[in-house]
Amino acid sequence: MLSLMSQPNKIILIGFMASGKSAIAQLLAPQLGWNAHHLDDDIVSKSGLQSVAAIFKEHGEGFFRDLESSVALSLQDAQRVVIATGGGIITRASNMDALKSNGGIVVYLRTSFETITQRAGDTSSRPLFSDKASALQLYMKRLPIYESFADIIVDTDDRSEEEVCAEVLRLVEPTLCR
Ligand code: S3P
Repeated sequence: MLSLMSQPNKIILIGFMASGKSAIAQLLAPQLGWNAHHLDDDIVSKSGLQSVAAIFKEHGEGFFRDLESSVALSLQDAQRVVIATGGGIITRASNMDALKSNGGIVVYLRTSFETITQRAGDTSSRPLFSDKASALQLYMKRLPIYESFADIIVDTDDRSEEEVCAEVLRLVEPTLCR
């Protein structure tokens, strides 16, 4: 049973790279009459560079993580938004505190590593997915962290984006402040 301090008015999608966060945010937000927000896009705009890969290349992961934290903080008071996070948002608990504050509900799109590798396709835009072995290590390390931050877990294996979206909606909608 979902137990929250206040009725949610923002949904935060978390999960490993290629678990479908952006696609689900795009599908879900209009169904709620909310906006979809992609955290990586804000990070890229803030950096003045062209892509996440370019930020990693020019300035390294630490710089990217600092930008990610400042963007998470700026979304503290956002309302009526579905936020697609980057897979590493959970590496700093303070990011999750900021996103969850003021009625944020966290939905973990749980996806097996096998499905992740099928969906990931060309991984050149994802600096932390350069090879399968290190991605698997990262996946194993993060799995319990995603679970620990989740208010709701939705499994995405063998489900279309529409099915995942419908399941998120089914679980979240009764709790929403609309
Ligand atoms: C990252 C995931 C990426 C992006 C960056 C770091 C991670 O986002 O934020 O490459 O640490 O898992 P996606 O989860 O949308 O691929």
